[in-house]
Amino acid sequence: MTVRIIPTTPIEGQKPGTSGLRKKTRVFMQPGYLENYVQAIFDGVGGVGGRTLVVGGDGRFFNDRAIQVIIKMAVASGVARLIVGKGGLFSTPAASNVIRRTGAFGGIILSASHNPGGEDGDFGIKFNGANGGPAPEGVTAEIFARTKSITEYRISDVADIGLDQIGTTVVGDTVIDVVDPVTDYAVLMEGLFDFDRIAALFASGFTMRFDAMHAATGPYAREILENRLGAAPGTVVNAVPLPDFGGGHPDPNPIYAKELYDLMAGPDAPDFGAASDGDGDRNVVIGRGAVVTPSDSLAMLAANAHLAKGYARGLAGVARSMPTSRAVDRVAAKLGIDCYETPTGWKFFGNLLDAGRCTLCGEESAGTGSDHVREKDGLWAVLLWLNILAVRGESLKAIQDAHWAEFGRTFYTRHDYEAVDTSAAESLMGRLRELLPTLPGTTVAGLEITAADDFAYDDPVDGSVTKGQGVRVMFAGGERVVFRLSGTGTEGATLRVYLESFEPDVARHGLDAQEALAPVIAAADQLAGITARTGRTAPDVIT
Ligand code: G6P
Ligand code: ZN
Repeated sequence: MTVRIIPTTPIEGQKPGTSGLRKKTRVFMQPGYLENYVQAIFDGVGGVGGRTLVVGGDGRFFNDRAIQVIIKMAVASGVARLIVGKGGLFSTPAASNVIRRTGAFGGIILSASHNPGGEDGDFGIKFNGANGGPAPEGVTAEIFARTKSITEYRISDVADIGLDQIGTTVVGDTVIDVVDPVTDYAVLMEGLFDFDRIAALFASGFTMRFDAMHAATGPYAREILENRLGAAPGTVVNAVPLPDFGGGHPDPNPIYAKELYDLMAGPDAPDFGAASDGDGDRNVVIGRGAVVTPSDSLAMLAANAHLAKGYARGLAGVARSMPTSRAVDRVAAKLGIDCYETPTGWKFFGNLLDAGRCTLCGEESAGTGSDHVREKDGLWAVLLWLNILAVRGESLKAIQDAHWAEFGRTFYTRHDYEAVDTSAAESLMGRLRELLPTLPGTTVAGLEITAADDFAYDDPVDGSVTKGQGVRVMFAGGERVVFRLSGTGTEGATLRVYLESFEPDVARHGLDAQEALAPVIAAADQLAGITARTGRTAPDVIT
């Protein structure tokens, strides 16, 4: 085996976003593009010689090629042990678990999450640290700096490593272990949840559909739900991961998981529906006739988590990203525990979880998780829900109605304007930021503004400050609008508008969210001039 040192020059735009570097697959396929970035990771994290790394991805197009490049580069850099998921696959939460369990230095996860895959789709790569979580801002900044000063990368000339058999190969100084990606994860879940109670629920005739969207969670869901918990064969649909996700868009939102939403609203609905995304970290849960927003799901899980054995001692605290609704805040207040508000991006929960300040966290973007790993975890959330349903013996709808009756309902929706002209989106945000000091005390579309700011986060654990995280506008009736630009898009800019209002009156809890939020939607449009500035008359996605 020889190590080749290839001279290279910096490539524009290798700046990690909300969740690592995410670009069109064809961009990653350009000669040297992936190699430059991987070398920048290796250098940016302080070198990987003699370390253990975990590598795997969600199986999307180019996953197989990229893994081989990473293996050759890891060997060239003297990585001591490389743990690779069989077939090059790991769901994101499973990779996080393996990093933690093996005491690895970190891991490289290949995914563009819920973005479509394929040669014309998206690809992504991110580094997770020893705690199993996405690298914090300081580390991603260092990686980005390396992409701008890189002069060479190191790669070995070893042949491709076969990844379809579990086993160990030694190449140069590197031990390469190909492991089953599901086993460790299933063991972790068995330790957290009452599998016997969930199995009894299925045995009593409880029905479910889990849509794996031809993405990473399929094998995990089949093994756990069908094989270990006894759910009927066929409970997990679209279970085989495919490089193009079967032509679908692996985002479990009402548009891309429409089939599941329609099933749950129709006469043949099973008792419970759920879906996950491309890399298995997101989840949605749907009851018969009851769509649950991710923000509400977080609040209800916080209120009920103690019913599962892994959380029986209660929660140390909870955390949510800023745009996530404040439903969970009300639960935390009642439980007398802390509730943290962080910027968008799972990496911001890492310090809080490591410091034991919170147990459960979640985001409006269909992410929920706990201190069991350092990523959000789709199947974990589904299992926690199943555990709660099994113990309470009530339907999801009944639990949601009771939750709203007790805590009030937080109406919530997100309107996305995708692939907007970048300069138009930036000038819209710039103007909002300029307006901020003038807003309090004024009335927009009949709603009085009480406060407005650009969200900044002071990390209570490491003292770091993160600014410019989204414009928040608060109104007198408890309504709130948040504007921010997505950090995960790959085409133009995506403007996200997050809208919420609070409704204590049970008689109004059955209203449709878009209807209930109509005045807030009108105020948001008037504030930002969305149509005038972007030319868009309606959002592309409503969640
Ligand atoms: C990824 C991150 C999440 C984040 C989501 C949306 O899934 O892991 O933490 O909430 O992207 O981010 P965006 O910047 O597109 O709103
Ligand atoms: Zn994801």
